[in-house]
Amino acid sequence: MRFADKVVLVTGAAGAIGSAAVRRFMAEGAQLAISDIDLSKAEALAAVSGERAKAFAVDVSDPASAAAMVGDVVAHFGRIDVLFNNAGISGKVAPVHELDTEDWQNIVGVNLNGIFYVLRATLAAMIKGGIKGAVVNMGSSMAGWDVLAGGAGYASTKHAVVGLTRIAALDSAPYGIRVNAICPGVIETRLGVPAGDDAAYDAGIRRFSDRIPLRRIGQPEDVAAAVAFLASSDTRHVTGVDWLIDGGQTLQSWANAPDAEAFPKLV
Ligand SMILES: NC(=O)c1ccc[n+]([C@@H]2O[C@H](COP(=O)([O-])OP(=O)(O)OC[C@H]3O[C@@H](n4cnc5c(N)ncnc54)[C@H](O)[C@@H]3O)[C@@H](O)[C@H]2O)c1
Repeated sequence: MRFADKVVLVTGAAGAIGSAAVRRFMAEGAQLAISDIDLSKAEALAAVSGERAKAFAVDVSDPASAAAMVGDVVAHFGRIDVLFNNAGISGKVAPVHELDTEDWQNIVGVNLNGIFYVLRATLAAMIKGGIKGAVVNMGSSMAGWDVLAGGAGYASTKHAVVGLTRIAALDSAPYGIRVNAICPGVIETRLGVPAGDDAAYDAGIRRFSDRIPLRRIGQPEDVAAAVAFLASSDTRHVTGVDWLIDGGQTLQSWANAPDAEAFPKLV
């Protein structure tokens, strides 16, 4: 019950990782602000979570919407102690020279601008309320440890979140607020393992898990447990870190890389 009497705001809370975090924080006694662009899904999750939870609509890519949502959460609960800044999209996969401006702006709008808008409003609310809070920003193993051809938009935004996290940690430290990032590897969600039908999805899961040193694919609950740890007083002396949660995925170096035929051919 590390979060009894704490108010926790989760963005992207209706998604796979967000809803696992909601369940984890609920189980540890928190009051939950369940925030998502998909209000009906957020409301459904709030309904099964009980009276300590309330749903809030937000489009994190819109600064006015992000600020209004944070204001509504403070108005309802009186404070925010923890932010899990999680909302994100995978964006279009295309080589850099084919990535069009709209796709680029779309992913930057949600995965970077959105993280910043919610972070800024929440830190301001914490500082105004004298709350020595904790923030966990959502990065990715694609923030530098691992990169995927065609994933420029996604990797660029997740890199940037790590940089933003470090500076925010410095800026917030005088107020006793900690800011950290988590960087999951492949997690078993429709965002992490995109595929059409169920058979293709299962094949995708096996293909990934066979290449992860711990021989399993990460689950949303694995991420939620790490988020709760970083948000709790157990890590009261930890700030500005970006923490991999990847089963050793990114430890695979050149020496362990797949055979030559797995690499794209020269055109
Ligand atoms: N699944 C993985 O393998 C993996 C790995 C590393 C990082 N991540 C990151 O974890 C986060 C959650 O991913 P997930 O796998 O649970 O995906 P998901 O699609 O299940 O959840 C994402 C949630 O964000 C919400 N959302 C999207 N755009 C929004 C917006 N503009 N405003 C508010 N909410 C919005 C969606 O409605 C959805 O509920 C993302 O930031 C993702 O990049 C995922």
